[in-house]
Amino acid sequence: MGNLSSLFEQNQEWADNIKEQQPDFFEESAKGQSPNYLWIGCSDSRVPPTQLAELAPGDLFVHRNIANVISHSDINSQSVLQYAVSVLKVKHVVICGHYGCGGVKAAYENQNLGLIDNWLANIRDVYRDYKNKIENHSSEEEKLNQFCELNVLAQVRNTCHSPFVQQAWAAGQDLSIHGLIYDLQTGLLNDLDICVTSAKEASDL
Ligand code: CO
Repeated sequence: MGNLSSLFEQNQEWADNIKEQQPDFFEESAKGQSPNYLWIGCSDSRVPPTQLAELAPGDLFVHRNIANVISHSDINSQSVLQYAVSVLKVKHVVICGHYGCGGVKAAYENQNLGLIDNWLANIRDVYRDYKNKIENHSSEEEKLNQFCELNVLAQVRNTCHSPFVQQAWAAGQDLSIHGLIYDLQTGLLNDLDICVTSAKEASDL
């Protein structure tokens, strides 16, 4: 009961492997971080950002929540965004959704799930904005896939309109906001061709 021995064993093996390849990796890592990317993704266990892009510790600043939502009233994601943009000065913010997202599906099905309904209300707002486009598809799978993609677009828009991102652009900071979606069936990231690099582009989105 409550035995985490396999986690500790695997962690030891992982650290040993890294030290074998790069003996000073952890010493250097402990000195500080300067990642180029802020990754905003879903909490889903099947979408591990560092692994799927074959990145190393130190490469990604990460925020994950159910259905990769950026809400202006959520102090958690806004704090991450502020720190990443204003202090770490990341060059790229990646909003990565995924097909088959349980959060998006739950929002679509409109069930009563308790506390999480308050969170899913953010995604239901996206549905209301794009209802015609989503319902235009014939199968439920296509509707949900479209909804997952439009949720990414909506969260890119919310990110672009955050005061920290707007201030960074006004100060001439090099900062791009991207929208991607991960396919659980193939293990591949798909580019949604959303890349915003200025306040002007954001206002046209
Ligand atoms: Co998800």
